[in-house]
Amino acid sequence: MLNKKVKSIILAAGKGTRMKSDMPKVLHTIFNKPLLKYVIDAVQATDYIDESYVIVGHEAELVEKYAKDNCENVKCILQYPQLGTGDAVNKAAPYLKDFDGYVLVVCGDTPLITAETLKSFINFHDINDADLTVMSAIFDNPRNYGRIIRDKSNKFTAIVEEKDATAEQKAVKEINAGIYCINWKTVSEAFNNLQNNNAQGEYYLTDIVKWAVNNNLHVQSYILENNEEIFGINSKVQLAQATKILNKKSVTKLMEDGVQIVDPDTTFISPETQIGADTLILPNVYITGKNIIGSHCKIGPFSHIRDGAVIGNNVRIGNFVEVKKSVIKDNTNVSHLSYIGDAQLGNRVNIGAGTITANYNPITKVKSKTIIKDGANTGSNSVLVAPVTIEEMASIGAGSVITKDVEAYTLALTRAPLRKFQNWVKLKIEQLTGGIK
Ligand code: UD1
Ligand code: CA
Repeated sequence: MLNKKVKSIILAAGKGTRMKSDMPKVLHTIFNKPLLKYVIDAVQATDYIDESYVIVGHEAELVEKYAKDNCENVKCILQYPQLGTGDAVNKAAPYLKDFDGYVLVVCGDTPLITAETLKSFINFHDINDADLTVMSAIFDNPRNYGRIIRDKSNKFTAIVEEKDATAEQKAVKEINAGIYCINWKTVSEAFNNLQNNNAQGEYYLTDIVKWAVNNNLHVQSYILENNEEIFGINSKVQLAQATKILNKKSVTKLMEDGVQIVDPDTTFISPETQIGADTLILPNVYITGKNIIGSHCKIGPFSHIRDGAVIGNNVRIGNFVEVKKSVIKDNTNVSHLSYIGDAQLGNRVNIGAGTITANYNPITKVKSKTIIKDGANTGSNSVLVAPVTIEEMASIGAGSVITKDVEAYTLALTRAPLRKFQNWVKLKIEQLTGGIK
């Protein structure tokens, strides 16, 4: 139990110029999930925070709409114009009047931060009864980060931005991670005293350190061991790097839990995917979103599982198969070249190569369900036009387009009858060339 309540402020108003994108930086995605959502999820998973304020500015409507549709207990606050990180936090001040608790400040562009780290950071603040705790990390190459400045007795006294730093300060390897825990009652006054007389002409959040030190408050830094977690995304190169870091963590954990991954370098699996032991993942598999996959399955090579898949045990998802929002029960095979979307497949179903669940009507924009029950099978190149149900043990002939439900143990075919024209080729050649030479 903490001594005080915690609210959080997530900074997401900046333009993200270096992304060179029409889209706001925080809505760029890793495994289809926006950077902002990673941060909000980590903040909320601490179980310490009852309410978060997201500071929006650049493309505010888009960010606000995303937050409204996808995040709970989040309120967006507009910062316009964007005058710096200090000004951004200050925009939440009217909502925090008389708040006697801690305010956790996090940047919306650091998607690798974990709930465990945030939790121990807040605990550290709480246990030490601090007024201000700043997360720091050590980098051999601290370029672009603000530096943690200490006096002769090693006391943390200020943060200096790289653009304002002296050569001596630039040599400091302890950097500001951009995550703060603020005892709001004692420190909020600092925001009324920020100045913008610095290299960037901005109101820096980092200047609250100096203010708190000058006011004899208890200021401390919390040194984060794993500096990967505070990796900030400023460009698409960094977005790809963060994807790699997150993926490595996710596939390593799965392997430690007993999943066999033949080539972790070409296998991408979202951190929210659970996979059972002894499932074999072959190269070039791409799995995004939240999925549950059982044990003893064989996935890949070249399979794409998009989101919302619940796959049982001993299931085969083969090459060039895409699965989305579908339940697939035990011992079922979807071996090659198929699309299974918004579908429910029973036990021991066999899906022939090139089977498509046609789930989307582009005119009505409605998506419908395909149900395939236990033991049923589809021949190669079948199209199942949803909504449609294939009952137990039914069989779909190859090349069929199924638009109506098929009863149990029934063979359904829409194929045109086979016709043969003997010697047709020979006659054609004679007609056209005057005979076989
Ligand atoms: C900031 C810190 C730096 C730290 C680094 C860690 C300051 C002055 N500097 O620098 O010490 O090492 O983060 O990553 O705080 N934002 C707003 N409104 C604004 C400006 C920024 O909401 O007016 C948001 C951005 O969207 C971003 C975050 O604040 O999510 C950080 O801003 P950014 O410009 O990236 O700061 P850095 O230069 O990285
Ligand atoms: Ca940044």
